Amino acid sequence: MNHLRHVKIAGTGMYVPPKKIDNKDLESLMDTSDEWIRQRSGIESRYHIEGAVGTSDLAVEAAKNALKAAQMSAQDLDLVIFATLSPDHQFPGSSAILQAKLNLDTVPSMDIKCQCSGFLYAMNVGKLFISSGQYEKVLVVGAEAHSPVLDMTTEGRDVSVLFGDGAGAVILEASDSESRVLDFALHSQGEFADKLWLEKPGTAGGNWINETDYKERRHFPYMEGRYVFKHAVTRLVEVVNETLELNQLKVDDIDHFLFHQANLRINEKVAATMGIPSEKIHSNIMKYGNCSAASIPMLLDECVRNEKIKTGDKVFMGAFGAGFTWAGGVFVW
Ligand code: COA
Repeated sequence: MNHLRHVKIAGTGMYVPPKKIDNKDLESLMDTSDEWIRQRSGIESRYHIEGAVGTSDLAVEAAKNALKAAQMSAQDLDLVIFATLSPDHQFPGSSAILQAKLNLDTVPSMDIKCQCSGFLYAMNVGKLFISSGQYEKVLVVGAEAHSPVLDMTTEGRDVSVLFGDGAGAVILEASDSESRVLDFALHSQGEFADKLWLEKPGTAGGNWINETDYKERRHFPYMEGRYVFKHAVTRLVEVVNETLELNQLKVDDIDHFLFHQANLRINEKVAATMGIPSEKIHSNIMKYGNCSAASIPMLLDECVRNEKIKTGDKVFMGAFGAGFTWAGGVFVW
């Protein structure tokens, strides 16, 4: 692909709310155990919002941290892109709420709803706005407040123990340096929408939400765990290969692999299948659980701040999630 201009990540940031929930804390709410959760997923804790805090409040903090790292002010931004599956409201999108909270007057803002792949879709969109010459500086945020829609009882345990709240952000800007975002591979397959979804409230089915929907638990997230697991492993392996080929790279050329944090076991299987050395794979699911669109930018920010990612390193990012959607991308730091 010919690009008019190169694009780099100028700064990263993340934020989680203060309330930490350990696996042990869940044992008092539902029939589960620390051992079950750790063994199946690798998760040890997650964070949940409290009080009047919403998704955009998490996003604001991550965005401010990213702006600080990029040595920019919010007023420098030309566009806000917000990836989330758990918006503050049905409409308008959380990007508009975030835009206002950043005091951005009339700067454009848009939401991307591609679930766990949302951040990579959003980053690709942000990159294209800059490489085309339309904008100079774009904020890309992935943020989720899953906890208000989780069923924290035994009936909802297969899903609710896995998910956490949090936000991650990057600032993209036009660049002449070697540090740059390379090409992305994006996919979706809507025929599997009902394998992992939050069906109601929604316009499909002749009503927004009714008594039967509540009785049949359609207002809680539903997931066929094993089905999703198998597809995630297959598609992630495919998308690593596709993305590397697109950028004329090999597995050995990549210094760090940042996979979506849905389940440690998924990423271990992908690594084993592809022969990726474990020291190149980074994880933070132990601390934060699955934060959907926020997982990759949170992990990226941690790796940058811990100086695991160094100047000139090549970094692969890969995600799979509801839709199904999946995506891969590479950048040079
Ligand atoms: N605590 C204790 N037991 C639980 C439980 C919990 N939180 N959740 C489910 N169980 C039980 C089930 O009821 C089942 O019991 P049964 O054998 O008596 O019927 C048993 O544990 C096994 O459940 P199963 O769903 O087969 O477990 P699993 O090995 O497939 O692991 C997941 C479940 C969800 C961890 C796993 O399937 C997974 O990670 N899937 C992909 C998730 C994912 O990637 N999602 C998001 C994509 S973004």
